[in-house]
Amino acid sequence: MNLLVVVCAAGPASDIGTLLALAHAEGWTCRVVCTPSAVPFVDTAEIERSTGHPVRSGYRPAGAPRPPQEPVDAVLVAPATFNTVNKLAAGIADTYALGVLAECVGDVPVVVVPFVNAALANRRPFRRAVDELRAEGVRVLLADPPHPRNSGPGVEFPWRDALAALRPGS
Ligand SMILES: Cc1cc2nc3c(=O)[nH]c(=O)nc-3n(C[C@H](O)[C@H](O)[C@H](O)COP(=O)(O)O)c2cc1C
Repeated sequence: MNLLVVVCAAGPASDIGTLLALAHAEGWTCRVVCTPSAVPFVDTAEIERSTGHPVRSGYRPAGAPRPPQEPVDAVLVAPATFNTVNKLAAGIADTYALGVLAECVGDVPVVVVPFVNAALANRRPFRRAVDELRAEGVRVLLADPPHPRNSGPGVEFPWRDALAALRPGS
């Protein structure tokens, strides 16, 4: 089974290796797409070593040959930022990650795990975005309660719960 992992630019992105190790142990084949802002958060070489696949973060140049398209069975967006959650719900596709996600919603199971503090989580645009995504069948896992402002570095990201949410019937 092929899992597409979309990584956004929030602190837990640097720990994506934990998710990949858990996913591999469950038998997933993983490919990673980063938003452009997330690239500095991750160790691209280590992800490529672990997954055996290149990390993508940008569209191919116009006219460049299309890379082979691998089937995607499920998508996990983790950590998902305030920015990407809001844009995904609004149908904006101005990053490669959002372009891929725009086509996956409604096609394969998509789980989104935001990492947003209470100030962001309580904003109406974000709450509306979560409702919109859920109405489209996206599974959104929200921390309850969200972590307070400026406390992100001490907060453990729920990698196991994120992966568990991909299991059918969970
Ligand atoms: C060190 C650092 C930590 C950040 N942590 C978060 C975070 O936890 N949640 C969040 O929504 N945005 C966070 N941001 C802001 C996002 O990186 C920013 O909104 C960015 O535009 C998101 O881009 P993306 O959604 O394309 O990944 C952080 C930024 C920096 C520099």
